[in-house]
Amino acid sequence: TGYITYDPGYKNTGATKSAITFLDGEEGILRHCGYSIEELADKASFLEVAYLLLHGELPTQAQLDAFEAAVQKYTVANQALLNIAQVIPTSTHPMSELSALVGLMEGQYSTDEKEDNILRLLAALPIFAAWNYKKSIGEGIVAPDQSLDYCSNFLKMMFAKPGEAYEVNSIVSKAMNKLLILHADHEQNCSTSTVRLIGSSHASLFSSISGGIMALFGPLHGGANQAVIEMLEEIKQAGGDTAKFIEMAKDKNSGFRLMGFGHRVYKNFDPRARIIKKAADDVLSALGVQDPILKIAQELEAAALSDEYFVARKLYPNVDFYSGIIYRALGIPTNMFTILFAIGRLPGWIAQHQEMMTNKEPIGRPRQIYVGATPRAFVDINKR
Ligand code: CMC
Repeated sequence: TGYITYDPGYKNTGATKSAITFLDGEEGILRHCGYSIEELADKASFLEVAYLLLHGELPTQAQLDAFEAAVQKYTVANQALLNIAQVIPTSTHPMSELSALVGLMEGQYSTDEKEDNILRLLAALPIFAAWNYKKSIGEGIVAPDQSLDYCSNFLKMMFAKPGEAYEVNSIVSKAMNKLLILHADHEQNCSTSTVRLIGSSHASLFSSISGGIMALFGPLHGGANQAVIEMLEEIKQAGGDTAKFIEMAKDKNSGFRLMGFGHRVYKNFDPRARIIKKAADDVLSALGVQDPILKIAQELEAAALSDEYFVARKLYPNVDFYSGIIYRALGIPTNMFTILFAIGRLPGWIAQHQEMMTNKEPIGRPRQIYVGATPRAFVDINKR
């Protein structure tokens, strides 16, 4: 009843009240439960931030130890899901496979075990990701190592050779920890809203997260991190002519956008991008990696930031612009960058789903402005 507010893309619609993440797009501020992203990325561990998002408070040492142990307890391969994962064709994008496996967790665990399922999901995503990678390179899987921290275990499952010893590089695992924290939550973005919308029909947490993964897959959202590297590679192949690509991005008919640029909410800078840009420099120099596309990225950024088109529209590098350069230096294949985003965003999705259920929010059901045909009589098929 009443009038309907027309707001395509929900640009000005507050669809929920949330106590998890605060975001000020004009000032470039991002805080989780009051704590700044700068401090969290610098001082916390990823599971510590996951605990914060899920519980609203930072854990004590004892609480964190118990939480880590609980996730580790579930860090085991599910044989039925492994059997399925191994027959999914390698032509399938890792994000489609991840979404499918998370959806299929529904048949493995009772949806009544709410607390356990949260831990199972946190444990499962790195396992599913590593299965996918090992399959893609034709190598056997490496069993999870419950004695390792979250990021180190993931790196071992990815990069150890089956049956061989593996030393986790602490520079790599620290960088991974920071990147996951920077992605942990971002209020009502497209994938989180998807998780909430699916969950609002009382579909299970597994179904909701499975759908969130698919929303994240899109190149305008999490898929941008893969698209950025592909774009930088293309610029490199084309001789490094950044000006040509800037012109193309400004031309609305080109169908090309500068990937990793612009944001729905941040209109001055993306605080995550600032941290990641610095981390990219640090990680590449610590690992002694020289990546020519870093220089192209820096040139592209400088050119865009001094171009009237980008300045007038307040388009700045976002979280995805430099993250791929780090993932590449860490040895992550390009088609798995968005998987890293999903592993990072998972605690945020779960926390938002939990908040929605606790607050007993109604089913999500937007309205529309109808612009179709006015009433008309049915025409028999042989008279059309
Ligand atoms: N390159 C060129 N022009 C752009 C770009 C870009 N990357 N982004 C926005 N614009 C233009 C757009 O054409 C529009 O111009 P005009 O006002 O003349 O019509 C103006 O800037 C406003 O853009 P919009 O599309 O109305 O903004 P939006 O809030 O609907 O979209 C966005 C936000 C992130 C989808 C968009 O900026 C974009 O497509 N960026 C590239 C993809 C990307 O990097 N996505 C990652 C986002 S951050 C992390 C995440 O969510 O995963």
